[in-house]
Amino acid sequence: MASRVIPVDPFDLVVFGGTGDLARRKLYPALLRRDLDGQLVEPTRIFAVGRKPMADDAFRALLRDALATHAGADAADEAAVGRLLERARYVAGDPTHEGGLDRLAAALDGGTALRAFYLATAPDLFGPTATALKARGLLDARSRIVVEKPIGRDGASAAAINDALGAAFAEDRIFRIDHYLGKETVQNLMALRFANALFEPIWNSAHVDNVQITVAETIGVGSRGGYYDGAGALRDMAQNHLLQLLCLVAMEPPASLAADSVRDEKLKVLKSLAPIGAANAAQLTVRGQYRAGTAEGAPTPSYAEEIGKEASDTETFLALKVGVANWRWAGVPFYLRSGKRLARHVSEIAIGFRRVPHALFSAGAEGPPANRLVIRLQPDEGIKLWLMIKEPGPGGMRLQHVPLDMSFAQAFGARRIDAYERLLMDAIRGDATLFMRRDEVEAAWRFIDPIEAAWREMGEPPKPYAPGSWGPAAATSLIERDGRTWDGDIE
Ligand code: BG6
Repeated sequence: MASRVIPVDPFDLVVFGGTGDLARRKLYPALLRRDLDGQLVEPTRIFAVGRKPMADDAFRALLRDALATHAGADAADEAAVGRLLERARYVAGDPTHEGGLDRLAAALDGGTALRAFYLATAPDLFGPTATALKARGLLDARSRIVVEKPIGRDGASAAAINDALGAAFAEDRIFRIDHYLGKETVQNLMALRFANALFEPIWNSAHVDNVQITVAETIGVGSRGGYYDGAGALRDMAQNHLLQLLCLVAMEPPASLAADSVRDEKLKVLKSLAPIGAANAAQLTVRGQYRAGTAEGAPTPSYAEEIGKEASDTETFLALKVGVANWRWAGVPFYLRSGKRLARHVSEIAIGFRRVPHALFSAGAEGPPANRLVIRLQPDEGIKLWLMIKEPGPGGMRLQHVPLDMSFAQAFGARRIDAYERLLMDAIRGDATLFMRRDEVEAAWRFIDPIEAAWREMGEPPKPYAPGSWGPAAATSLIERDGRTWDGDIE
């Protein structure tokens, strides 16, 4: 089926941090691809803002290089690359200085298109930038701001950032990105749940035994040590991506797909999370940090070596056992884990159903394995439903556990669009369904802050784990204590 691409009205996109890593790796390739699909209309303009002066030609060379490195085969389309270079220019600007946005004001002058300000910067610049944009008179009622996670490093700093954003922009003009929400399969989770009659009746504690959410990476922290060492896996991955995925699995059906309907339901889940704090963190959480070793045949440094420190207490792995204390999910554990330098690059949600109540077929004391629905976010997006079937042929009733396996690449062929392509266009169009609302971000911190505080109080260093493993042995014990194992599809 041909995809439906609806062009968006011309806009001015202003990217703060416009020569930075995120802009180069994600935003410019996303814009190129949206242009290739015919979604960008004249006279859409792109302004990259950075602190240092840079000639337009030097910026265009940087942009061309970013596309060549990060846009794959799409960068071979010279005409499209040329169009993007034409649209883009560099403006030196510093929102933290008096008069620091004068050049930007002059560059934008005369444009009447909708203005979107994308803050691909550190979160401590979010507030000052919003304030400076307003003070310099660069905003009108349609202007919008897009900010990246993490929003702050705890509930208090997030509230301060949100206050500053809210003083310059109405809440429905603030687009807080969690790029996991823009992933194709995450959207499919909603389709799976709410466009099929099959699953919703059994999507509850009467039929679901446990839920597992894994976001595993094989890479280390690389050059992001400066940011990462002050954050750690709990703030970097759990506060946002893991909890957002949990919300989409656990939320009630929203009244509609309108942004606030969906976000109201996610918020209820966040408010229902059973608190983890000093009293239970030792039983319900595991922290790890990768040590030196070999991964994929090559030697790899320890985390501390990689970030150039002698030692660090920052976790690069975490596992949590989370409860959702509401009518639907009471008693169903949600096991979450995420880490760097793990055995495989894979992100999955696995819904483990209960076993059949009565073992009709001989399959050992435990009876046949339970059904499992696995939603694979990456790398090869798809959905697998594990069922018991009879092994074909004579010789009695032998059963097998086999998957109904749908790979999206095989089923649909077409290139899956990157999360940033979708989210950028949604922000321009003003559709906030896939963005986090202020109260969601703050509710997520209310769950995370006590875990962080408990870890500090416990004062235990993260447990070392070998690169290429599945994290510290304690993560295995966390789930095995409950008589369960991590999803066998992955390990
Ligand atoms: C980011 C984190 O939000 O997500 C990174 O800051 C992480 O540490 C990344 O590597 C993972 O995203 P993806 O889309 O590659 O799974």
